[in-house]
Amino acid sequence: MRTQNLLPNRLLGCLFPLLGLVLGDVNWISVDENGPSFTLASSNISYQFHVDPLTLDLVHDHWGAYAAETVPDFDGVTSGWGGPYTYSRREFPDLGRGDFRVPAIHIQHADGNTVSAFSYTGYDISSGKPSLPGLPATYGDEGDVSTLIVHMYDSYSDVSADLYYSIFPRYNAVARSFRITNNGSQDITVLRASSWSVDMPNEELEMLDLHGDWAAEAHINRRSVVYGEQGFRSSAGYSSHFHNPFLALAPPSTTESLGSATGYSLVYTGSFSADVERWSTGWVRVLLGMNPLHLSWPVAPGETFTSPEVVSVSSEQGLGGMSRSFHSLYRSHLSRSNHTFQTRPPLLNSWEGLAFDFNQSSMVKLAQDAAELGCTLFVNDDGWFGTEYPRNNDSLGLGDWTPNPAKFPDGLGPYVDQVDQIVVKNSTEHVQFGLWVEPEMVNPDSSLYKEHPDWCMHAGDHNRTLQRNQLVLNLGLQEVQDYIITVIEEILDSASIRYIKWDNNRGMHEMSSPSANHAYMLGMYRVIDNLTTAHPEILWEGCASGGGRFDPGLLHYWPQSWTSDDTDGLERLHIQFGTSYPYPPSAMGCHVSAVPNQQTGRTTPLAFRAAVASMCGSFGFELDPSELDQEERDAIPQLISRQQEINPIVINGDFYRLALPDQSNWPAAMFVSPEADSAVLFAFQIRSALKPLPSPLKLQGLDADAKYKVSNGTWEQSWSGSTLMNAGLRLSWPSSDYESIILTFDKQ
Ligand SMILES: *[C@@H]1O[C@H](CO)[C@@H](O)[C@H](O)[C@H]1NC(C)=O
Ligand SMILES: *[C@@H]1O[C@H](CO)[C@@H](O)[C@H](O)[C@H]1NC(C)=O
Ligand SMILES: *[C@@H]1O[C@H](CO)[C@@H](O)[C@H](O)[C@H]1NC(C)=O
Ligand SMILES: *[C@@H]1O[C@H](CO)[C@@H](O)[C@H](O)[C@H]1NC(C)=O
Ligand SMILES: *[C@@H]1O[C@H](CO)[C@@H](O)[C@H](O)[C@H]1NC(C)=O
Ligand SMILES: *[C@@H]1O[C@H](CO)[C@@H](O)[C@H](O)[C@H]1NC(C)=O
Ligand SMILES: *[C@@H]1O[C@H](CO)[C@@H](O)[C@H](O)[C@H]1NC(C)=O
Ligand SMILES: *[C@@H]1O[C@H](CO)[C@@H](O)[C@H](O)[C@H]1NC(C)=O
Ligand SMILES: *[C@@H]1O[C@H](CO)[C@@H](O)[C@H](O)[C@H]1NC(C)=O
Repeated sequence: MRTQNLLPNRLLGCLFPLLGLVLGDVNWISVDENGPSFTLASSNISYQFHVDPLTLDLVHDHWGAYAAETVPDFDGVTSGWGGPYTYSRREFPDLGRGDFRVPAIHIQHADGNTVSAFSYTGYDISSGKPSLPGLPATYGDEGDVSTLIVHMYDSYSDVSADLYYSIFPRYNAVARSFRITNNGSQDITVLRASSWSVDMPNEELEMLDLHGDWAAEAHINRRSVVYGEQGFRSSAGYSSHFHNPFLALAPPSTTESLGSATGYSLVYTGSFSADVERWSTGWVRVLLGMNPLHLSWPVAPGETFTSPEVVSVSSEQGLGGMSRSFHSLYRSHLSRSNHTFQTRPPLLNSWEGLAFDFNQSSMVKLAQDAAELGCTLFVNDDGWFGTEYPRNNDSLGLGDWTPNPAKFPDGLGPYVDQVDQIVVKNSTEHVQFGLWVEPEMVNPDSSLYKEHPDWCMHAGDHNRTLQRNQLVLNLGLQEVQDYIITVIEEILDSASIRYIKWDNNRGMHEMSSPSANHAYMLGMYRVIDNLTTAHPEILWEGCASGGGRFDPGLLHYWPQSWTSDDTDGLERLHIQFGTSYPYPPSAMGCHVSAVPNQQTGRTTPLAFRAAVASMCGSFGFELDPSELDQEERDAIPQLISRQQEINPIVINGDFYRLALPDQSNWPAAMFVSPEADSAVLFAFQIRSALKPLPSPLKLQGLDADAKYKVSNGTWEQSWSGSTLMNAGLRLSWPSSDYESIILTFDKQ
C-alpha cells in the first residue's frame, strides 16, 4: 500500500482573515486575493470556498450559519489510495482525475474521452443578478442580491466553466448555476450537470425529501445520510409527482422550530436528479441538477450551455425557518406574476360536478349556482373543445382548441358574455370566467395529429405509447411552440377570459434523444414566457394531474399551481403540509369537493374540507351545488366570506407548521403577518380521542409583549403573545372526527 501526502495544506494552515475586497454596496461578497478565497455572507449566513494553490481547483469551506473566518480542513486527510481530488471538499467536481465520487459535471469530448480538468482562472463580481438565458430563475436588483462569477478553464479540451453564485442576504439564500462554453473546434456533449454541488464536513445528517404519486403528492421522507450514494430522481420528463426537486439536510436533532437546516430547490420542470453521497472521510457531497439519463446536451464550438439554477437556504430556526426563507424568496424574487401578492377570487370549477357532460345552458346554470354561493370566478374545465373530434371523453380532441359547436353553437364569446352578466349574490360584482387547457398534449384522434403526426414526442419506429389516451407534443420543435402560442392567443382573443388552468396529464416516453427533454423544457419556457408576458392580467394556474409539476420553474411564470387531484380533506392535510416545505401556501390551489370523496371515498364535514382548503392562496369548489343538501348550501357563503377575510394573511404571511399531520392527531399551522400585528391559526382534530389529551398549542412568530384579540368569528378573548407562545392555547374539541378550528389574532 502506498500513501501519498500531496496537499501542502499548511500553506493555508492558519485562519486566513478576510482582507475583503468590498465593492460599493455589494459588501455581501468578499475576496481575499491571497488565495484567493471567496466569501458570500450576510449577518446570518456564510458561504466560503477557496482556490487550492497547487491544483487550482475550488475547495469548499463552509455553507451555513455565519462564521467570521474561514477554517481550513484537517491536515492528514490526503493519505490514501487517491490523489488530491480524492481527498478534497470540492465546489465543482469534475470526473477523471481521481475524484471517485459522483461528479457535478461530466463532459464527453470530441475524441471520446470524458476527463475534465477545470482550473481557476479568475472572477467577477456584479451587483444584482443576471438572468439565465431561456430558463426561469430568481431575480433581484442591486439592493436584493449580488453575484460572484468564478471562471474555470479546461485547457486540455478548451472548455470554460463560469460558476454563478448569487446571495440574497435577506432570505439566507444562495443561488447557483453554471455555464459551459465550448472554446474548441469540435462538438462536446454535456452528460451530467448538477448546478448545486458542495461537500459538507463529516456530520450526522438526515435528508428530508418529498415523494409521492398521482393523488398522493409530497409525502415527507426523512432518513439518515449513510455511506454511499442515496438520492432520488425524476425520469418522467417532468419534475413529477414521484419526487419533488427539493431536499433538506439537517442533523437528527433539528426540529420544525429549532436547529440548523439547509434546503436545496431546483428551478426546473424537467427530469432531475438529487444525489447525496457520504464518502470515506465522512464528508457528504450534495448534488442537485439535471438527470444524466435525460441530458447528453451537445455544445457546438462557440456555444454555451446554461444549467438550471438551484437555490439553497440555510436556517438556524429549524425546518420551519428554512421554509419561511424559501416562501418569502419565492414570492418576492421568483414569481413574476403580479397576482402573487393579491387575494385570489373564490372559484367554482366544473370538473368534479359535470366532467365532460355539459352544454352552454348547463354550464351557465352551474355558473349561476356558483354565484349564489358567493363564488366570483367560474372555471369551465375539460370538454369544451373539438369539432371533428369532439372532446366528450378523454380519448379524443386534445390538440384541437376550437369550441365544440354542439356545446357552444356561437363559440366562446357569447357564452362567456352570458357568464359575465351573472351578478354574485349580495354583491355588485360580476362572475369572471376561467378556462381549462392542456396545450402540450395531443390525442391521436384529433385533427392536429392527423395533420402533424410528427409533432408528437416519438423515437424512430418505437410504439408511441399512449397514456390517458394521449401523446406529448414535442415542444422542442419551434413550429409546435408557435402553434401553441397562436391557439392560446386565439382563445384569449375570442372571449373575456380572466383565468387559465394549464394542465398536463402524462409523463414522457419514447423521447427522440436524451437531449429531447431539455430541448422540450426550453421550448415550453419560451411558450409560457411569451403568453404570461403578453397577458399578465390573466390569473394563470399550473396543473399536472394535480401536483405533477409543482416546481419553482413554473412558479416563476404563474402565481399558483393545483396541489393535488386528491381533494379529500384528510389526505390534503398531508399533501399541503408536505408541499409547504419548499413552496409558499400562497402558491397552492385548494378546493372543496363533494363527499364521499371521489378519490378516497371518505366523508368529512364541509367545515373541515373548507378549513383545509382555506390554508391555501387559491380557494374554491369542485362540485355541483345543485347536488348539495340545503344545509350545506346555506353554510357555504359564510365559509367563503371567512376564507376571503383571512386570504390576505395566507397570501402574505409567514407560515409556521405547529404540529404535523404525520405526527399528531391535532395538526395545526399558522400564518403571521410580516409586522406580527395579525395572525390566523388553523387547527384540526383527525379522530375523536378521549386520551391522551391534546398538547397545549404553542403559537409562534407573535409579538410576546403585545395583547392580541383572539376570535373564531363569534367568540373572542384577549391574550398576550407571551401566553399564546409559551403557555399555549388549550383548544377544546368536540367528540367527533374531522373537526377544525380557525382563529384570528389581532394586535390590540
Ligand atoms: C438573522 O438572525 C436574527 C437572529 O436570529 C433574526 O432576528 C433575523 O431575522 C435573521 N435574519 C434573517 C434574514 O433571517
Ligand atoms: C474562447 O475563445 C474566444 C474566441 O474564440 C476568446 O476570445 C476567448 O478568450 C477564449 N476563452 C478562453 C478562456 O480561452
Ligand atoms: C343541455 O343539457 C341539459 C342537461 O343535460 C339538457 O337538459 C338540455 O336540453 C341541453 N340543452 C341543449 C340546447 O342541448
Ligand atoms: C346573502 O345574504 C343573506 C342574508 O344576509 C345570507 O343569508 C346569504 O348567505 C348571503 N349569500 C351570500 C352568497 O353572501
Ligand atoms: C369516447 O367518445 C367517442 C366518440 O364519441 C366514442 O366513440 C368512444 O366510445 C368514447 N369512449 C369512451 C371510453 O367512452
Ligand atoms: C402500442 O401501445 C399501445 C398502448 O399505448 C398498445 O395498445 C399497443 O398494443 C402497442 N403496440 C405494440 C406493437 O406494442
Ligand atoms: C410571442 O410570440 C409571438 C409569435 O412568435 C411573437 O410575435 C410575440 O412578439 C411574442 N411575444 C412575447 C411577449 O414574447
Ligand atoms: C399586472 O401588470 C400589468 C402590467 O405589467 C398590468 O397591465 C395589469 O393590470 C396588472 N394586473 C393586475 C391584476 O394588477
Ligand atoms: C366559536 O367558539 C364558541 C365558543 O367555543 C362556539 O360556541 C362557536 O360556535 C364558535 N364559532 C365558530 C364559528 O366556530
